[in-house]
Amino acid sequence: MKFGYFDDQRREYVITQPDTPLPWINYLGCQAYFGIISNTAGGYSFYRDARLRRLTRYRYNNVPFDLGGRYIYLRDNQSNQFWSPSWQPTRHQLERYECRHGMGYSIIGSEYQGVEARTRYLVPLDENLEIWQLTVTNHRPAPAKLSVFSSVEFCLWDAQDDSANFQRNFSTGQVEIEDEVIYHKTEYRERRDHFAYFACSAKIAGFDTQREPFLGPYRGWDSPLALERGESANSVAHGWAPIASHHVKLDLKPGESRQIVFVLGYHENPKEQKFDPPDSQTVNKKSVKAVIAKYRNPASADAAFEQLRQYWDSLLRICQVETPCVHTNRMVNIWNAYQCMATFNISRSASFYESGIGRGLGFRDSNQDLLGFVHMVPSRARERILDIAATQLPSGGAYHQYQPLTKRGNNDIGGNFNDDPHWLILGVAAYLKETGDWSILEEPVPYDNEPGSEQPLYEHLQRSFQYTLARLGPHGLPLIGRADWNDCLNLNCFSDTPGQSFQTTTNKEGQVAESVFIAGLFCLAGRELAEITCRRPCPDGKEKLQSPCSSAAKLANGYLAEVARMEEAIRQHGWDGEWFLRAYDDFGGKVGSKECEEGKIFIETQGFCTLAGAGLDNGMARKALASVRQHLATEHGIVLQQPAYSRYYLELGEISSYPPGYKENAGIFCHNNPWVMIGEARVGNGDSAFDYYSLINPSKREEISEIHRCEPYVYAQMIAGMDAPTHGEAKNSWLTGTAAWNYFAITQWILGIRTSYDGLEIAPVVPKGWKGFKATRKFRGVTYQVDVERVGPGNNVALTVDGVLTAGDVVAPPPEGVRQVAVKVTLS
Ligand code: GLC
Ligand code: GLC
Repeated sequence: MKFGYFDDQRREYVITQPDTPLPWINYLGCQAYFGIISNTAGGYSFYRDARLRRLTRYRYNNVPFDLGGRYIYLRDNQSNQFWSPSWQPTRHQLERYECRHGMGYSIIGSEYQGVEARTRYLVPLDENLEIWQLTVTNHRPAPAKLSVFSSVEFCLWDAQDDSANFQRNFSTGQVEIEDEVIYHKTEYRERRDHFAYFACSAKIAGFDTQREPFLGPYRGWDSPLALERGESANSVAHGWAPIASHHVKLDLKPGESRQIVFVLGYHENPKEQKFDPPDSQTVNKKSVKAVIAKYRNPASADAAFEQLRQYWDSLLRICQVETPCVHTNRMVNIWNAYQCMATFNISRSASFYESGIGRGLGFRDSNQDLLGFVHMVPSRARERILDIAATQLPSGGAYHQYQPLTKRGNNDIGGNFNDDPHWLILGVAAYLKETGDWSILEEPVPYDNEPGSEQPLYEHLQRSFQYTLARLGPHGLPLIGRADWNDCLNLNCFSDTPGQSFQTTTNKEGQVAESVFIAGLFCLAGRELAEITCRRPCPDGKEKLQSPCSSAAKLANGYLAEVARMEEAIRQHGWDGEWFLRAYDDFGGKVGSKECEEGKIFIETQGFCTLAGAGLDNGMARKALASVRQHLATEHGIVLQQPAYSRYYLELGEISSYPPGYKENAGIFCHNNPWVMIGEARVGNGDSAFDYYSLINPSKREEISEIHRCEPYVYAQMIAGMDAPTHGEAKNSWLTGTAAWNYFAITQWILGIRTSYDGLEIAPVVPKGWKGFKATRKFRGVTYQVDVERVGPGNNVALTVDGVLTAGDVVAPPPEGVRQVAVKVTLS
């Protein structure tokens, strides 16, 4: 069953029924100001940091109620009826409801008793504000006497404090009202130099800034007293709960349309110019007034929308494909790339499943997010890499997370997740391959943001690698620390106290439990580091070297020797006969082995070791992948392990805390499915790789939206596995490494259009049944038109570049000045 449809032409998903199984959301803003908006106008906004600079309030445990948002009410002043054109919060039976989620904007419209209302919500590029552009049309044969009421509820900035510290917060709220603009200035009197505002383009008949007079005592957003009366209370908030609401009267002739623009924004003043006059307590509005005036004008709002469309058009054009599969095309060309922007910006911090108060930017997560983002805005990827590296610890280890506003490591969650450092190497490698910008390696970057500790970024990568070498366990495999990629495999935790955090509790020395996953990751990262080392231009002479200088070669060989040793350790101690083991626990017992009672086989090591190339030469990779097919594959995707843990295991930690079939305990954890896809591609099995890709492709799953339940246009972190009663049900949409990894797997490994140091590599491993496909890829300033034709069943590639037959599968950069290259590829 579907709740809408894809409008690929306009790059929109159109929801035609407001009561979707769960709120289906979109992100507004892609730089510094962000909003989350649901299909019924729910959600919240923040500036940079969802926790520390929250503009509007969100109530926790709110899914699926989805109350609180960017609500506009309409009122018919002849019948005294009022309703919400976005369905929520009044939930009237609307005629012609439609929500169009697009690239950085959402349009929610409906008709009710002959009155049509359509609101376009968007954040203009390079601005810290959001526009709600409302158009009301009277389709009745008679004049309509209407009122429009807007509403937002402010958050008192620190979202965590806002939802907990009422004894203080009920007494701090302050506002100012001037020229149809409501200014929210709580704490501006003391240490804040920022405020929020909510402006309206029309002359207002009234306003409210205090929640209680607007809603009325004991009432919710579905029945505000102001709407019942048809009049605002003109309340001025002092303490309690500041809101902003405008009342605009609209008399519309039959057929007449009118636009009103609302602007919700964030503004900072220089500390010494906070007040106007300087010795007063009145907000200095001089610099914000111009911005407000600009966007209150519908023409500016239209122009901002047009600019946003063009911006997304240019980003998406960088990689476009035309394959025989509509779901692949739609995800690659539109939605998967779009989701990668969201995960790059927000990491795992703010969605309807991530509260915005719990997590900052993850060290591991943000590095992986680069894989799906770096081609779109390389300059921002560069900045991100340097920010992440600056939180690295001198040991080479990492804070698990950092706060985007302060860019400081977050001590609450600590470190010692022993996989973390290696993702930095992979992130940097992806950046270098995409851009060829070797200068990033020479950027001085501090450790733990400590001034004076700066070393070239390259040195950070070396320390990442060394970190593992200094932490090897009894089998010569990496010690796991708190956990590896699987945050829930807490082999040193041994927690028996309810409520204790599995992420930060450690009751063991940590000198025994080892991770085969980190071993695979180490091999991949080590090979990348060796290659970077060889190719790194000598820092003094800026020339890029054809062959590495002898010291670099020696260093690189040293890294490769360590990789070879690790591969040997995997062969000796990380192989279970039919698949890769997962780990050794604190007693030296096997995890993910046929000898185990439960959790005999895990996906992560099968995926990551084969992706990293382990066992390609000796049949282990194929065996491991066959075992995945046999034991882990389901019709909804590949589950994380089998059999699921049926009880809590003290020595395994959080993984066994989840009921079977959910999350890390045998859920389909979509993030790691692409590792198996890449593994299948590496062994040349295009049918299997693409089959796995299709199983979790959200667009493909649109048809079963009543089962999948999450948005059909983005990936979710998890789909319930076969042990759960709700097998096939997705949860935690949007913010997941699934976005970047699927994008990477389909574009670079299945379609095989791969960035490399020497040029664009083209090595498709696609289904046998495909006759071919086309792709356009912009890469280092050149547009490559790739036309793949299948003439035989295999994966052998023959390239003709601009008419010239070319050996190998890499298209070298064209001569200076050439901007277009045509590549014919025959697959046989
Ligand atoms: C979550 C975390 C990610 C982790 C994964 C598996 O998605 O954000 O860092 O790797 O869970 O536990
Ligand atoms: C929980 C989740 C895991 C996530 C972690 C982040 O352990 O199960 O997916 O990575 O929290 O803190």
